[in-house]
Amino acid sequence: MPTTALLNIGSLVTNDPAQGDGSPLGVIRNGAVVIEDGTVAWTGPSDSAPAADTAHDAGGRAAIPGFVDSHSHLVFAGDRTEEFHARMSGRPYRAGGIRTTVAATREASDEALAANLAAHLREMRRQGTTTVETKSGYGLTTHDEARALRVAAEQADEVTYLGAHIVAPEYADDPDGYTALVTGEMLDACAPYARWVDVFCEQGAFGEDQARAILTAGQARGLTPRVHANQLSHGPGVQLAVELGAASADHCTHLTDADVDALAHGGTVATLLPGCEFSTRAVYPDARRLLDAGARVALSTDCNPGSSFTSSMPFCIAIAVREMNMTPDEALWSATAGGALALRRTDVGRLAPGARADLALLDAPSHVHLAYRPGVPLVTDVWHAGARV
Ligand code: NIG
Ligand code: FE
Repeated sequence: MPTTALLNIGSLVTNDPAQGDGSPLGVIRNGAVVIEDGTVAWTGPSDSAPAADTAHDAGGRAAIPGFVDSHSHLVFAGDRTEEFHARMSGRPYRAGGIRTTVAATREASDEALAANLAAHLREMRRQGTTTVETKSGYGLTTHDEARALRVAAEQADEVTYLGAHIVAPEYADDPDGYTALVTGEMLDACAPYARWVDVFCEQGAFGEDQARAILTAGQARGLTPRVHANQLSHGPGVQLAVELGAASADHCTHLTDADVDALAHGGTVATLLPGCEFSTRAVYPDARRLLDAGARVALSTDCNPGSSFTSSMPFCIAIAVREMNMTPDEALWSATAGGALALRRTDVGRLAPGARADLALLDAPSHVHLAYRPGVPLVTDVWHAGARV
């Protein structure tokens, strides 16, 4: 197999504490990465890199593992500019806005949904994201949820069944009937396309008993839970996620001490979605409280047309550092290794031998600039599975 070397990387984040400076980020100064067959074959100091068939000079730029965006809602159609505009003019965010996107998504062809998804994935890729999870949740009929997941499975790395996003409008007077659909016929149609099952556990969406029924039905079909938990208020979502062994509890904006304790001692990653608080003018979750308690934290965009229409992991890092009391190192780790943990992936989110060769080069001397220079497009080159994209 031909080998490719990236040499002269001013600051190389590996997320392998056994390398470089011994920090959790395992930063190698003046480092190099050698790639073979789409995976990392070697990392270390540039001046001791083994000879490769092709060499690229990074010119002293920084390199980081490609971002792992572990939470997005990209199978949708339609536009909610007006809702955002109104909210920024004083009207609060409510879960009901989802219905606007549901109506537009049902109207859209498979081709239109696939094209919109592809455009957003390209946008993410340009900003350094190399692994993406995305969900259904804007169809809410058996047919529309299954086709959303089919479209997602063709393009995204990780696919989540979110038939339980809100109660479908047709079932407004019969929420239990909708839960029966989500755990029955709809699950049967959707399970073949998904690895994960999710539920929006919140007042106005699904309560504890319904969420438990939905997640355990998914588990019985081989899907692993992840939960939209404690976004708008204190609620049972986080405790339920930990109890059921969910890979991730997402949002985690309103947490009691018991919730923090459960996340710190359970196997569930706390995924924070600062684009959501930014775009809904809500209070940010306190990452420091979670980290100090020992919880594992991931950062993700939650990219969706309603509550967080950003595809930018660098933007999320900048907010997390400024508003959520994360250090630049913690935020970078959470946006890469943390996302991988939330998706139970060991092949991404790090740059060590055996990992998929996913990385982003930054027009900056180190990853710290992602927070230090908010809004500046620092990602110059993206490599995915050993190929420059
Ligand atoms: O994660 N909270 C539920 N779902 C999305 C919002 C979806 C929408 O508003 O369209 C979220 O924030
Ligand atoms: Fe979400």
